Amino acid sequence: MSTWLLTGGAGYIGAHVLRALRAAGHDAVVLDDLSTGRPERLPDDVELLRTSLLDPDLPAVLTGLVARRRVDGVVHLAAKKSVPESVAMPLHYYEQNVGGTVAMLRAATAAGIGRVLYSSSAAVYGETGAEPVAEDQPTLPTSPYGETKLAGEWAARRHAEAAGLRWAALRYFNVAGAASPELADRGATNLLPLVLRAAETGEPLSVYGDDWPTPDGTCLRDYVHVEDLAEAHVAAARVLLDDAAPSPGALNVGRNEPTSVLQVVAAVERVQGRPVPHRIAPRRPGDPARVVADASRIATVLGWRATRGVDDMVAPPRRH
Ligand SMILES: NC(=O)c1ccc[n+]([C@@H]2O[C@H](COP(=O)([O-])OP(=O)(O)OC[C@H]3O[C@@H](n4cnc5c(N)ncnc54)[C@H](O)[C@@H]3O)[C@@H](O)[C@H]2O)c1
Repeated sequence: MSTWLLTGGAGYIGAHVLRALRAAGHDAVVLDDLSTGRPERLPDDVELLRTSLLDPDLPAVLTGLVARRRVDGVVHLAAKKSVPESVAMPLHYYEQNVGGTVAMLRAATAAGIGRVLYSSSAAVYGETGAEPVAEDQPTLPTSPYGETKLAGEWAARRHAEAAGLRWAALRYFNVAGAASPELADRGATNLLPLVLRAAETGEPLSVYGDDWPTPDGTCLRDYVHVEDLAEAHVAAARVLLDDAAPSPGALNVGRNEPTSVLQVVAAVERVQGRPVPHRIAPRRPGDPARVVADASRIATVLGWRATRGVDDMVAPPRRH
């Protein structure tokens, strides 16, 4: 059994990673400032360190933690994640996401924690034009959010090489679904919560452009179920714990399965049996037409592949 420090563990993805690590027999401690996270997502027996990564006391908090409990590695999920907000507040995103990652790397290393699993994003690729996109494609992010995720990944890689840490970065494609209703994504900017809200309220969903060079004219994305994504973290943790294996480095987490906005709308209508009112709006600048993962490297390096499809992501989550 190993113990992982989950920054951002009270968030949508972090809470699923926590659940999957524990189900696989690992233990976890959460560090979260609860800026977007929710403590009710955490089981009662999980320790929560309620602090910001940018708190000057962070090194003392991590040193104190390591003095009390063994910590094998950090899963660094804590970040701000809204693309439009990052366009409006770029310095806030650089401060939180890049500054937060640098502070976490420094404090974790000072506390003697030797493994880092970094939450990266398909947003690091931007408009490469490659489909599917592999990890060795150029990274040309089109938003401040994507830039901060890439800068954080660079900092993690360079620091890991210099300080002798073991590291991996998982580049998540479009994450959707939930293991249970309490763990669902409350974020207003991801497509699936917006589609579900339109179905619930009758307020039409805006579909940004139906004249893209795609089969139905709407943007194509590669959706991955959050429980599959959480299992990818468990697989990465296993390889990071094996000191004889090379560090995995950057890995796409996707399905190599393009799905259009209108196909997501149709899936919700079919699976949930209710209409999704929607209207076509102008294209948004910076939205790439197609973002689809080449998911072959993660299958080779971690032995992971997704087992759930879009219908599983749009189905109402089970109650436990
Ligand atoms: N949701 C997606 O589709 C997606 C896709 C690609 C990458 N990611 C990345 O996954 C990670 C988790 O995303 P999520 O969807 O769970 O978002 P989320 O907002 O639900 O979770 C982020 C968590 O980090 C915490 N946090 C933020 N800033 C902090 C700080 N300075 N100090 C301490 N805690 C802080 C928040 O309170 C929250 O609990 C992020 O790094 C995000 O960039 C998400």
